[in-house]
Amino acid sequence: MADIESLLKETRVFKPGREFSRKANWNKKTISEYRKLGEKNPERFWKKMALENVSWFTKPKKSLEWKAPTAKWFADGRVNVSYNCLDRHIEGKNAWRKNKAAIIWEGEPGDTRVITYKQLHREVCKFANVLKSLGVKRGDRVALYMPLIPELAIAMLSCTRIGAPHSIVFGGFSSEALRDRLDDAGAKVVVTADGGYRRGAPLPLKPAVDAALEGSTSVEKVVVVGRSRASVPMRWQRDFWWDDLMKVASPDCPPAKLPAEHPLFILYTSGTTGKPKGILHTTGGYLTHVATTSKAIFDLKEDDTYWCTADIGWITGHSYVIYGILANGATTLMYEGVPTHPEPDRWWDIIERWGVTIFYTAPTAIRTFIRLGEEHPKKHDLSSLRLLGTVGEPINPEAWTWYNRVIGKKNCPIVDTWWQTETGGIMISPLPGAVSTKPGSATLPFPGINPEIYTEEGEPADPPSGGFLVVRRPWPGMLRGIWGDKKRFKETYWGNYPNTYFTGDGAHRDKEGYFWIMGRVDDVMNISGHRIGTMEVESALVSHETVAESAVVGRPDEITGTAIVAFVTPKAGTNVDATLKKTLTKHVAREIGPIAKPADIRFTEALPKTRSGKIMRRLLRDLAAGKETVGDTSTLEDLNVLARLRESDED
Ligand code: PRX
Repeated sequence: MADIESLLKETRVFKPGREFSRKANWNKKTISEYRKLGEKNPERFWKKMALENVSWFTKPKKSLEWKAPTAKWFADGRVNVSYNCLDRHIEGKNAWRKNKAAIIWEGEPGDTRVITYKQLHREVCKFANVLKSLGVKRGDRVALYMPLIPELAIAMLSCTRIGAPHSIVFGGFSSEALRDRLDDAGAKVVVTADGGYRRGAPLPLKPAVDAALEGSTSVEKVVVVGRSRASVPMRWQRDFWWDDLMKVASPDCPPAKLPAEHPLFILYTSGTTGKPKGILHTTGGYLTHVATTSKAIFDLKEDDTYWCTADIGWITGHSYVIYGILANGATTLMYEGVPTHPEPDRWWDIIERWGVTIFYTAPTAIRTFIRLGEEHPKKHDLSSLRLLGTVGEPINPEAWTWYNRVIGKKNCPIVDTWWQTETGGIMISPLPGAVSTKPGSATLPFPGINPEIYTEEGEPADPPSGGFLVVRRPWPGMLRGIWGDKKRFKETYWGNYPNTYFTGDGAHRDKEGYFWIMGRVDDVMNISGHRIGTMEVESALVSHETVAESAVVGRPDEITGTAIVAFVTPKAGTNVDATLKKTLTKHVAREIGPIAKPADIRFTEALPKTRSGKIMRRLLRDLAAGKETVGDTSTLEDLNVLARLRESDED
């Protein structure tokens, strides 16, 4: 509550610059028209966007068909994502873009590649043929477990070309996590690399794939990109080098004319149970949503160099490193490594060297750079920048102000964009040419999007008010389901309020209708802008032989937003010492990945529970945040005392 209050004390308002507004893709007049249409008839608004921003083989006549919770958008249209991201920029009136950079890529060791639209088209067609030659058919799932290298973009677009949904698994996930995702999606092919570079050293990936494929699996073939040139064992007739397959592949591969509701990709994200959810997105609606928002919110122009720092393993990378950006024929920059390697000014150096004009990153990164000191960005000429964005977590006004002053030189609008893996594209954000910003607020809904604040009882609350963030009407980029789990889809998102999507976030709306996102209200933590379920970490902990029971909560952290704190009850006879802490931390990293490592593990002989056996999470959250002052809380007795003290409260 204290955080909410301090956020809401923020009263500064920043108006869009006149020059920026005048040149913006969506000026004030357009926006006011679109807002009106979006409110009156969102289906008509989105159909207009679909026809304006997407090229169709068969133009849709239909807009939305909605039978809660199943939405179909533009269902009678036929479309292909790779055609929209590539072919239409090298033929017809935009053919001049053929030699424009589609991807500017920089590896961590400093190697670079610039790939034009024509070159990217050729590579994508070839790899699409490779996939076909490996037996991939329309509808088959292809898993991508790769570093941030151009081949990842090529593989994604190739999948879309032939209608094989991809499932990208972030390279930081462990072989266990990869195995779960491969099994759940029933992937037929995995594309990986020998390794990528992180913090100056090659980080192996192929061994994790080998471990994940032990025993029976749906995976038939593995394609390996040679990136780190580490020596990796290749299994006869299962594993193939990317280069060997590409050498003999034909560059001729017509795009599949897919129905708009054809599955485009699955992306796993954490929920409130131990099992990650495979979020399913489809083709025409998703493409309409990301292409339209990219054009309006990032104001993409022909001469922009756009850089989103997200890894493609997350939704931000799918929607706003690749699909939305290439659909607009813009230049997207990809950087493989860590932000501070070899020096803390690596990012600012990249911006200066490539002349980046639009920069989109996460508040966690901004807070890290604040701590590292202003001298690093100040060494570089950042004057090419004209627009800044943030995503993934609430931005505290201090970080916003620093971003505005030190990076934007008070000359760049900041778009704080709220959305989720499930929403596919941005939902709440300033439109940079028209909406005044307030530090810490994602401002107003995008036209055609209907978020609302609901009270606990499920009543819409008039602003100013705080409560649960919901979306009342379907939108084109929304998830179409959880892979293989209709029941969970219904319960998680549509079970709380009739016909209404529940986001899992709490938010406040001020009297001008501005949204202030307060973070998750469920058992999902937001660590450095990435979602980790408390249950996932708990299951990882109890899978260790020394752990009887565990409860995991988040505590506020200055840099990462939230840090993971685990309360662990060891099995009788376990030797509890600092080594056990290390062992368990490593174990979680092995089970899930380094991002899920607890910042703190506290051992206790019992966990505080309600009479009905529910763990008292609120109490543990207070303990983890250091708010509880009743004695030494790391021991059993104290926890029990606290438990008794709070029992009535929690029941
Ligand atoms: O809690 C919200 C937070 O990130 C969650 C979605 O996480 P994920 O699906 O991993 O996608 C992150 C990138 C889109 C949301 O439920 N979140 C995202 N953007 C913001 C945010 N919180 C506050 N402000 C934002 N701009």
